[in-house]
Amino acid sequence: MSKIIIAVDGYSSCGKSSTAKAVAKSLGYSYIDTGAMYRAVTLYFIQKHISVTNEKEITNALSEISIDFRRNAEGQNHVYLNGLNVEDEIRKLYVANRVSEVSAIASVRHAMVDQQRKMGKKKGLVMDGRDIGTVVFPDAELKIFMTADPLVRAQRRQIELMTKGETLDLEEILSNIENRDKIDTTRAESPLRKALDAIEIDTTFMTLDEQVDQVILLADMVMNR
Ligand code: DC
Repeated sequence: MSKIIIAVDGYSSCGKSSTAKAVAKSLGYSYIDTGAMYRAVTLYFIQKHISVTNEKEITNALSEISIDFRRNAEGQNHVYLNGLNVEDEIRKLYVANRVSEVSAIASVRHAMVDQQRKMGKKKGLVMDGRDIGTVVFPDAELKIFMTADPLVRAQRRQIELMTKGETLDLEEILSNIENRDKIDTTRAESPLRKALDAIEIDTTFMTLDEQVDQVILLADMVMNR
């Protein structure tokens, strides 16, 4: 059976990554978390005090950044920034609070999109993000757009952060989510929007297993078309 590209876009904390990861595992596909790439760039900008308004500094910084994914012993993909595993660091709130402004920079997006397209050359890929079905792979065979109620998303994020040892107020998380939604959907450069041919899945009342089953069912339909 020929391999396809599955683009999974949507708001943060809708279950995109968990769903995309499980779908990739089930189909024997690669999985790429593009949010992790933007978070890694953001971490670098924070560490090196790069000004988000200084194009020269940004261009220099981008030429110094190398991002790749490596599989650990448990088979999980971890993101590496210049050879260092930053998987845990990039999930922290201080990075989340800055990632939308960094990912709104055109030159940052161009550099990431170039790299993402190279990763999709061989197909057999599930990629999640905000612009995968609209910009990175507008010809993807299957496009999913995930949504969920903001409060439910904040609760999911709170539980996820707790398992990593970060205890945060629900209001603080909700405000971070709403703020990111606003920046992600209104930025000039590839704003988050549903591709015309994407299938919308509202995960507010769905379990992870249900989300995964639904995407696999859709992938089967596309592959057998
Ligand atoms: O999926 P995530 O929450 O880890 O993504 C982090 C941020 O990166 C999010 O606020 C928007 C941005 N992002 C983006 O602009 N384009 C993508 N393809 C993926 C993420």
